[in-house]
Amino acid sequence: MSDALRRALSPATLGKLPLRNRLIKAGTYEGKSPGGVPSQLLQNFHVELGEGGIGMTTVAYCATEADGRIHDQMMYMHEGIRPQLQDLVSAVKATGARVAGQVVHCGYFSRNPKLQRLDKPLGPSRQLNTLGVPLGRPFAGAMTHADIDYFVQSFHDAALFMKEVGFDALEVHCGHGYGISQFISPKTNRRTDDYGGSLHNRMRVPVRIIETIRAAVGDDFPIIAKMGLTDGIKGGLEENEAVEVARYLDQAGCDALITTGGTSSFNPNLMFRGPSIHHGLIEQSQSLIAKLGMKILGPSLFKEYPYHELYFRDGCRRVRDAVDCQLVYIGGCSTLESLEQVMRDGIDFVQLGRTLLADPNYPRNASAALANSQPYDSGCNHCNRCVALIDAPGGIYCPELHPDKRPVLNT
Ligand SMILES: Cc1cc2nc3c(=O)[nH]c(=O)nc-3n(C[C@H](O)[C@H](O)[C@H](O)COP(=O)(O)O)c2cc1C
Ligand code: SF4
Repeated sequence: MSDALRRALSPATLGKLPLRNRLIKAGTYEGKSPGGVPSQLLQNFHVELGEGGIGMTTVAYCATEADGRIHDQMMYMHEGIRPQLQDLVSAVKATGARVAGQVVHCGYFSRNPKLQRLDKPLGPSRQLNTLGVPLGRPFAGAMTHADIDYFVQSFHDAALFMKEVGFDALEVHCGHGYGISQFISPKTNRRTDDYGGSLHNRMRVPVRIIETIRAAVGDDFPIIAKMGLTDGIKGGLEENEAVEVARYLDQAGCDALITTGGTSSFNPNLMFRGPSIHHGLIEQSQSLIAKLGMKILGPSLFKEYPYHELYFRDGCRRVRDAVDCQLVYIGGCSTLESLEQVMRDGIDFVQLGRTLLADPNYPRNASAALANSQPYDSGCNHCNRCVALIDAPGGIYCPELHPDKRPVLNT
C-alpha cells in the first residue's frame, strides 16, 4: 500500500475531532424522512455506512426551520424529532463512525406547499423561483433586515439543537444554490444595501452565520462549510471569486471547507458530471405527460458535462493554497488512484457520495484489497440514476448495481 493510501485509511483529526480514517460520506439527500420525521430506514442507511468503516457519515439536508425545507418531507431541526435524531446519532456512533449533520436553509428555492411562517419563499432578492411555478407561486420575495436576522438566528438555534442531539460535527451548506449561496452569488443577490454588491457585502450573511454557529457550539466543535467553486452560469459565482469566498469562511471560523460546484437551481449536472439527471427523472416519473415534458425539455434544462475522475481537483487545490483551515475533497473520487492523488495533493479528507451508495462497505473493502495488494473498485459507473430517487418512496439507493435493494419504508 502506498503511503498516500495508508494516510487516507489511517486515523486523522478534523478540527479537534478524531476520526478513524479520512473518508467521509458526502451529504446525499436520503429521502427517508416521511412527513419530516427521520425513519428507521434513515438510521439503517447511516448505520450500514458506519459498519462499512467510514470515518464520518453526513446526514443530509437538516433544515434550520420548517420554511427552510425545499419540500415538506424534509426534516427541520425542532423538538418534535429529537428522540428519532438522538437514536439515529447514537446508533451510528456505536459503529465507531462519527456523524455530521448538514445544516441548510433553501432560501427562495422551495416547492414547499405548506409554508408555516412565510407567505412565499424569501431569498436575498426578488426573483423567479422555477420550483414554485407548478404551485402557482412563481416569484420569491426579498428578505428584509428582520428576515435576514431571523435567517441567521435559525442557523444558531439549529446548530445548538444538533450539538445537543449528539452530532459530532456540522456541515454548513454554503453551496448548490441554497439560501447561504444565494447571498454569495451575484446571480441571485442583487441587493443594493450592505448585504449586496461587493463580495465583502455578499459575504456578510455567510460570515454572520459561521460566527453565530461558532458562538453556539464553542471552539472545540467542528464546523465544515460546503462551498461552491463556480455556479457554472453567466453572471454567477466564478472560481477567482470563490477563492476569496473560501478566505472569508476560513477567517469566520470554519475548521474545514468542502469545495463543490454547480447549483440545484441552475446547473445541477455540474456537481455530478456524467449523464444528465433528466434521464433518471423520466424513469421515476409516474405521469406520461411529465415523462414527455421531461423528454422534450430535459436536454435544455440540464446541461450535460462528461464525467472524469477528480473533476473539482484544480479548484480544490487553489482553495487549499489560499486558506489555513483543512480541506475536504469532493467530486468524482471513485478509484483508489484518485484517492491516492487527493492525498498526494495534501488535501486532508475526502467526501464520497456515489462511491458509497454503490458500496457502503467501501472503506473496509478497499482496506482489505489493499492489504492483499489487489485492485478495488466500488462498481459505480456514474450513471446518476440514484440522483432521481430523492423523491421516490423509501428514497435513494443504487438501482444500477443493487436493483434488489429498493428501500421500503417501515416507519
Ligand atoms: C442521490 C444524491 C443526493 C444528493 N443530495 C445532496 C444533498 O442533500 N446535499 C448536498 O450538499 N449534496 C448532495 N448531493 C451531491 C453530493 O454531495 C456530491 O457533491 C456529488 O454527488 C459529487 O460527489 P461524488 O462524485 O462523490 O458522488 C447528492 C448526490 C447524490 C448522488
Ligand atoms: S445509481 Fe449506482 S452506479 Fe449509478 S451513479 Fe448512483 S451509485 Fe453509481
